[in-house]
Amino acid sequence: MPIVKSATSLTEQYLQKEEQYGAHNYHPLPVVLSRGEGVHVWDVEGKKYYDFLSGYSAINHGHCHPRIIETFLEQAQRLTLTSRAFHNDVLGEYAEFITKFFGYDKVLPMNTGVEAVETGLKLARRWGYEVKGVPAGKAKIITCEHNFHGRTISVISFSTDESSKRNFGPYTPGFITIPYNDIAALQAALQDKDVVGFLVEPIQGEAGVVVPDDGYISKAAAMCKEANVLFIADEIQTGLARTGKMLACDHENVRPDIVLLGKALSGGTMPVSAVLADDEIMLTIKPGDHGSTYGGNPLACRVSITALQVLVDEKMAENAAVLGEHFRKELVAMNNEHVSIVRGKGLFNAIVIGHPDKDTAWNICLKMMENGLLAKPTHDDRIRFAPPLLITRPQIDECIAIIKKSLESF
Ligand SMILES: Cc1ncc(COP(=O)(O)O)c(C=O)c1O
Repeated sequence: MPIVKSATSLTEQYLQKEEQYGAHNYHPLPVVLSRGEGVHVWDVEGKKYYDFLSGYSAINHGHCHPRIIETFLEQAQRLTLTSRAFHNDVLGEYAEFITKFFGYDKVLPMNTGVEAVETGLKLARRWGYEVKGVPAGKAKIITCEHNFHGRTISVISFSTDESSKRNFGPYTPGFITIPYNDIAALQAALQDKDVVGFLVEPIQGEAGVVVPDDGYISKAAAMCKEANVLFIADEIQTGLARTGKMLACDHENVRPDIVLLGKALSGGTMPVSAVLADDEIMLTIKPGDHGSTYGGNPLACRVSITALQVLVDEKMAENAAVLGEHFRKELVAMNNEHVSIVRGKGLFNAIVIGHPDKDTAWNICLKMMENGLLAKPTHDDRIRFAPPLLITRPQIDECIAIIKKSLESF
């Protein structure tokens, strides 16, 4: 893919240093950011942009939200880490807060999103052996094609994306892959009595914001219940108000057996993830069975309480629902010849670029960057649009104008 570098040398110096000393495991836009506030970020040259990626939905609250930063600084000066060898005076309060917030018996705190996924998989297997009665070593978990749940060996074992898997084998067994948004395929897979869980993204994010048919999530959850299989919702990207509800599963009034959260749980300040479940599932894990040095640290706990409270106080889900609808309507109204699909829910949206040149989506992103808006292609031809949820109507209208102008230059 062509990389158009900023003409100025300051940006190039940063790019070169990263290229020389950092592993080449990402392909970022050639922009070097040094400051963020609300919906905006600034690069090292002082140019201002709208952030339409929001750290892959970790920045739902906007950059450096004042209440979250205040909480962060206050707790950082008191106590940051105890490990779980000792108790700290915030974990209990956080556990009570988040479990009541989402309506579950217990929380298991971790750090990154993929750790929450691994924890969900372990819980499902434990529950399968100790509660459901699956024979030892036989448990299976159903996953979907084109999923994205993270990067550990076990999680890439059920990825269907070649570049995530290539030469990282041998892979972890015990997973069944079915097509996404296919109720009949799920029904067939659930016939296997050794199945303990169905792991699913309510909307597939990395796949390019693929929204399943209305009713898919509720039917899938009901079928899992019927088959005595745990419905595990990966809400790491879709949760926390992004799609216009606190959880994407709320659109279909589904209460998953296990909920996985991450990303925006800390308001974009640090890696914080969480797994929510009821006692029948959670208490299958005993002291020493699972954990993480940083999981449940007092800084993370304190910051997460504020982050969740801010989502509610600032009505971010409501704003995402209203402005998302408006945004999609305007994208469709552009009627641009290169945009073959507009899709999404709330402020979690994407366009699919129908152009024979596979670099077009990348080039459109470079053009939008030039025009003051940052977004990133996924899978070559899809561009995700996920601004911070505190964006206002005038701001989103300005962004719509930038996107229109950028698309029209092709
Ligand atoms: C749905 C989903 N699950 C899991 C993850 C992994 O999260 P992390 O990168 O924090 O490990 C991601 C990251 O993009 C995600 O979108």
